[in-house]
Amino acid sequence: MKALLLIGGQATRLSPLNKHIAKSLMPVCDREVLNYQIGQLARAGVSQIILAAGYMVEQLADYVSGYSGGLEFAISLEEEPLGTAGAIAHAAELVDNDRLVVLNADIISDVDIAEVITTHEAGGRPATLVGYAVQDPARYGLLQLEGSAITGFTEKPEGQLDDDAKHFINAGIYVLEPTVVNSIPQGRSVSIERETFPQLITAHGALTHFPHERLWEDIGTFESYFRANFALVASRYTYGDNALWGGREDFALFKDMVYMHESVELGKGVDLFHRVIAMARSSIGADSRLQNTILLPGAVVGERCQLTDCIIGPGVSVPEGTRINKMVMVAGEQNTAFYPDAHDMGIS
Ligand code: GDD
Ligand code: MG
Repeated sequence: MKALLLIGGQATRLSPLNKHIAKSLMPVCDREVLNYQIGQLARAGVSQIILAAGYMVEQLADYVSGYSGGLEFAISLEEEPLGTAGAIAHAAELVDNDRLVVLNADIISDVDIAEVITTHEAGGRPATLVGYAVQDPARYGLLQLEGSAITGFTEKPEGQLDDDAKHFINAGIYVLEPTVVNSIPQGRSVSIERETFPQLITAHGALTHFPHERLWEDIGTFESYFRANFALVASRYTYGDNALWGGREDFALFKDMVYMHESVELGKGVDLFHRVIAMARSSIGADSRLQNTILLPGAVVGERCQLTDCIIGPGVSVPEGTRINKMVMVAGEQNTAFYPDAHDMGIS
């Protein structure tokens, strides 16, 4: 079976954090989003992965060239972005009339893709979409449901929705029959969310829904990137050494949601108060206090700093005595404001 990763967005909402890194290679607790996705697809029996990409393609090609274990990779290059369905149509020759699993390349989840495929087969419809329940669907695709059938799809719904209700949104994980891939118009930009899914629903009455409840986050904004990291840590607390952690032993978890890679250096009197992720080769100087903060690989925090609600980019040096909150710091860039909503992660 084949899978296609939609990897061609410009990822502007994460800028400048991802300035030198393709969005899908951003590390979440020291592993690239792509790494989690490849593992997830391999566990479901996928043997070939098509990367539908247009930006930073060399970086992606380099990354997958290091993979072995029977997985085959192909790159479907877009000179111009063709949209989420246009990218699939562009890769139709590589798909070659197979059933296709499609993933947005900016999500991390513990969805069991093999189960999604089983549900897809039982559903007997041309497409199956994974749904995830959230409070506010505004920045997602909203699924309209009747039992296990998807009878409507609204991308980025506007207007007031019942505040207390949970809404199933498009998690960016699909199984498509070859008829779907072959019916997407070629040679122009096509959105799977705004064009293909609504048309399929009109033509077939409904698509199949696979509801997912545990871990799911996209990493498209500072806030969701932040949440994704802590949601992953929470998954380890809740489910132990689950498939996403895959037997890793190169880190430690401490109380209050503190994750630390084994290579991190800590000065004397460092206070990791609550929710701290310190990725590989980062260091924290003496008497510094961190709260609700992520250090990307190689970030260096000086002595006597106080960082609250921050993301410190790869290799950034935070001068001693710095006191900041609600900031994203990236080397050579102005600090960018950041509004984490950690309380919304459903974890203590
Ligand atoms: N190859 C290719 N070509 N990929 C693309 C293109 C394109 O023209 N445009 C977007 N992508 C990729 C992005 O890189 C990303 O991995 C995925 O498609 C989704 O695009 P985003 O730009 O991240 O969309 P979004 O986050 O606003 O919304 C999408 O994801 C939500 C879940 O995170 C939609 O699919 C929503 O319906 C969904 O709820
Ligand atoms: Mg996205």
